Amino acid sequence: MEDIEKSVDRELKRRLKEPRIKDEDLFETVEEVFDRATVLALLELKRRGCIAKLYGVISAGKEARVYLAKGKNNVDVAVKIYLTATAEFKKGIWRYLKGDPRYEWILSLPTHKLMSVWARKEFSNLKKMYEAGVSVPKPVCVHRNVLVMEFIGENSVRAPLLKEAVTMGLLNADNALQIFKEIMRNVYRMYWYAGLVHGDLSEYNVMFHSSRVYIIDVSQAVKLEHPNSHMFLYRDINNIVRFFREELELKTPSVERIYQNIISKNEEALQTLVETSEE
Ligand SMILES: Nc1ncnc2c1ncn2[C@@H]1O[C@H](COP(=O)(O)OP(=O)(O)OP(=O)(O)O)[C@@H](O)[C@H]1O
Ligand SMILES: [Mg+2]
Repeated sequence: MEDIEKSVDRELKRRLKEPRIKDEDLFETVEEVFDRATVLALLELKRRGCIAKLYGVISAGKEARVYLAKGKNNVDVAVKIYLTATAEFKKGIWRYLKGDPRYEWILSLPTHKLMSVWARKEFSNLKKMYEAGVSVPKPVCVHRNVLVMEFIGENSVRAPLLKEAVTMGLLNADNALQIFKEIMRNVYRMYWYAGLVHGDLSEYNVMFHSSRVYIIDVSQAVKLEHPNSHMFLYRDINNIVRFFREELELKTPSVERIYQNIISKNEEALQTLVETSEE
């Protein structure tokens, strides 16, 4: 029995190394060579109808890469693949996992399993946020270390990040206040309706598309019960406030006042405060 399993495994490995057995349709335009587990995960997502064809890489981060792909009905989707867990990554995520009973155990997992849990965690956070009316890419599918979500952009070109939108002149003095308010409204919704704090919010994790903001990169988001959730919330607000003050010269209320209005569940005050108060 074991022998059969072994030889099947060997055969599978051999075949996966050979490009001809790779799914030509799925990988046609991708040059990357994925590890076996990732290839199998992508094939499974294809079987489920989540991905039809994988295109080029949109972003190559240290742990994850994001690809453009075609999904159902030839619609663009973004495919985030978690590839490696560097020591730095493990150290970094510990801050978010410690104190969250849902996930504290995962650091002891071998790397590929850790990346699968991390992808599923991002999917589940996206789903909670999306259902709570937070502006995030709509989650589509997740399998192993691969997450498929709505593509934010147009004609296969991704939308700019907030940081880039300033350089491109799309975000400027004329719409800064409105966009700032929209982000704070999303932070509020995330907190009260999804029960989550982003934890890594900044001008690099917000996309700007058709005059709307989309919050991305939510794998590390923590539940309100997390012992540091308030510290993370404060830091998230601070990053956004700093960005709008420094890069757009927007006169915003203090971080403390925004923070207080969020945690005291006063959405109306939050919006008027942001509208009228200048410091
Ligand atoms: N749904 C999406 N639609 C279009 N582009 C996306 C989408 N999600 C992510 N991207 C692009 O991929 C980049 C990386 O995504 P994300 O921030 O989720 O990953 P990351 O792990 O933080 O990677 P990095 O370390 O590069 O920031 C984003 O800055 C954005 O340009
Ligand atoms: Mg990011």
